[in-house]
Amino acid sequence: MEYKFSDRVSNLKPSAIREIFKYAADPEVVSLSAGNPSPDAFPAKAIAEISDDVLKNNPISVLQYSVSEGYTPLRQHLRDYMKRENNTGSENDDIIITTGAQQIMDLCSKALLNEGDVVICEAPSFIGSLNTFRSYNAKLVGVTVESDGMNIEELENALKTNPNAKIIYTIPNFQNPSGVTTCLEKRKKIYELAKKYGVLILEDNPYGDLRYSGENIPNIKSLDTDGIVIYAGSFSKVISPGMRVAYCIAPKPVFQKLVVCKQGNDVHTNIWSQYVCDEFITKYDFNSHLAKLRSIYTKKADFCMDLLDKYCKPAITYNRIDGGLFIWCDLPQSINMQDFCKKAIEHKVCVVPGNAFLTDESDPCNSFRINFSTPTDEQLEKGIKILGELANNWN
Ligand SMILES: Cc1ncc(COP(=O)(O)O)c(C=O)c1O
Repeated sequence: MEYKFSDRVSNLKPSAIREIFKYAADPEVVSLSAGNPSPDAFPAKAIAEISDDVLKNNPISVLQYSVSEGYTPLRQHLRDYMKRENNTGSENDDIIITTGAQQIMDLCSKALLNEGDVVICEAPSFIGSLNTFRSYNAKLVGVTVESDGMNIEELENALKTNPNAKIIYTIPNFQNPSGVTTCLEKRKKIYELAKKYGVLILEDNPYGDLRYSGENIPNIKSLDTDGIVIYAGSFSKVISPGMRVAYCIAPKPVFQKLVVCKQGNDVHTNIWSQYVCDEFITKYDFNSHLAKLRSIYTKKADFCMDLLDKYCKPAITYNRIDGGLFIWCDLPQSINMQDFCKKAIEHKVCVVPGNAFLTDESDPCNSFRINFSTPTDEQLEKGIKILGELANNWN
């Protein structure tokens, strides 16, 4: 049989990270490549209690079909929570629960993008979202990420030269993969430019609650008086990625289209997971759970940065992070990044080559991404020591 795939998917390649996971599955390999929450971070006992209780006392409520918009109490609680804690969302917005934030990228693409439309992305950016935009045959235009967010001149130039730009996709807090946080001034400029050029902003914020130092910066959505920002939040990094519960706050006309698109995707998000998330954020002490996560990850992030200072200087440099789960490491020009990542695998350490996160993977890149939330402290020390030895003895 000659399989004739659609134009949309025939050029899609498996994500570089998924490919790397094949090596990472080897128990002898230290994987610094994943982005999974720490095994210590899951509120497993609370999830078991909530599930046990509902399955004993009201099983049909979580086993029956439900509505595409999402579990009503969860939507209401999130609406209140996001307004109260983050001034995010207004009476002109509505909220849809999705199957992970990944689905928000898919639904927005389905609802908003025609073939050839441009999505302006940070370069580097989250590979999962880039691949979703690609799967709708969107054209990706990358804007360099600086230490305080996108280069604004480049962004304006991208908007000027691409009149069919539809979306600016940004991860403003502790960006995956660069770890960068966009400063307030740039958030305001991104908003003004989107307004000026009639483009929507897709603000993806799965790491916002994982801040370890510095002051919180308002979400771009909190500036939205013109109905131009779509906000993506997720429980993946703060409750469980396996439960696949996320939420999207969007201007009502966009929300309505997202609901229709979701009906054709998966009808609704797993109602049992939605129920568990709702009970957990309302009946348990969600804020102290978040504080516990921050305390686990602050220790791990500091430990990881200390190891980088101890073993990797001067060859590997990096920017210190204020939150999130990733650190972006730079190699000197004298070291070829692809060769370095291959050598690291030969020495049983897995990192993600930085070019995997670019809109065009063939663009020059001498960086790689590491994650510190998944490995144990022993694994982190072993892996980072090997990276440092390789880089500092490269010839
Ligand atoms: C920036 C970013 N957006 C979205 C996602 C997808 O998250 P979810 O598990 O909610 O689909 C991730 C996952 O790592 C991410 O890093």
